Amino acid sequence: MTELELEEGFYLLPRGTLPSLVVCLEMTERPPPRHCRPPDGVSLRHVHQPDLDWYRALFTKVGEPWVWYGRRLLTDDRLRAVIHDPKIEVRVVEHHGSPEGLMELDFRKDGEVELAYFGLADALIGSGAGRWLMEEAITQAFHAPIRRFWVHTCNWDHKAALAFYQRSGFKPYRFALDLDPDPRLTGVLPRSAGPHAPIIEAG
Ligand SMILES: CC(C)(COP(=O)(O)OP(=O)(O)OC[C@H]1O[C@@H](n2cnc3c(N)ncnc32)[C@H](O)[C@@H]1OP(=O)(O)O)[C@@H](O)C(=O)NCCC(=O)NCCS
Repeated sequence: MTELELEEGFYLLPRGTLPSLVVCLEMTERPPPRHCRPPDGVSLRHVHQPDLDWYRALFTKVGEPWVWYGRRLLTDDRLRAVIHDPKIEVRVVEHHGSPEGLMELDFRKDGEVELAYFGLADALIGSGAGRWLMEEAITQAFHAPIRRFWVHTCNWDHKAALAFYQRSGFKPYRFALDLDPDPRLTGVLPRSAGPHAPIIEAG
């Protein structure tokens, strides 16, 4: 890691960086099931071998307001290698047939599952769909013989996400700091992505 300048007790980050404070959370056993129903017209569909353009459009719709960019960095070949891996499960939340949420589980490591992506588009946030979707995620993850189910969230995700995960039964176990170049300055995302995250121009 590059050495950071320290000024009056603060580490100064290079301009042009988007720092993300990440919280990793895990659960080591399945919490008691909750019986919840999706809102009217909402359903979940497992999409096998998603079409790359379809997947990118969904990832953008759900993630762009929260500056999600991991999958946007990948070439076609690299994206295909990930989302067509039989150990990656992509599910789409549909509202009257329109794609409005993404839930992606990663079973690639023995004994654990990562909730790699979890989010609803704006229209479904706060509708009760999140709680139902989490119940589906927990159920799918614990179908496998796992020791842990984990997720990470960061300060640019929805402000309710961290508490929501904790109410779901995940326990925080680690902080991490991501110091990537701001994807809105490198052209990976439009400048309009994540308006709650200020852009500090490189300079
Ligand atoms: C994080 C996220 C999934 C949380 O979902 P949400 O929309 O707040 O979820 P809900 O509306 O289901 O749940 C909020 C709470 O209100 C309750 N609720 C809200 N509206 C409700 C309704 N109409 N009917 C029933 N319950 C409702 C839920 O039961 C839940 O309570 P609980 O947690 O005590 O069980 C959502 O904010 C989101 O997708 N954000 C954008 C992407 C993101 O930041 N993802 C996380 C990245 S790691």
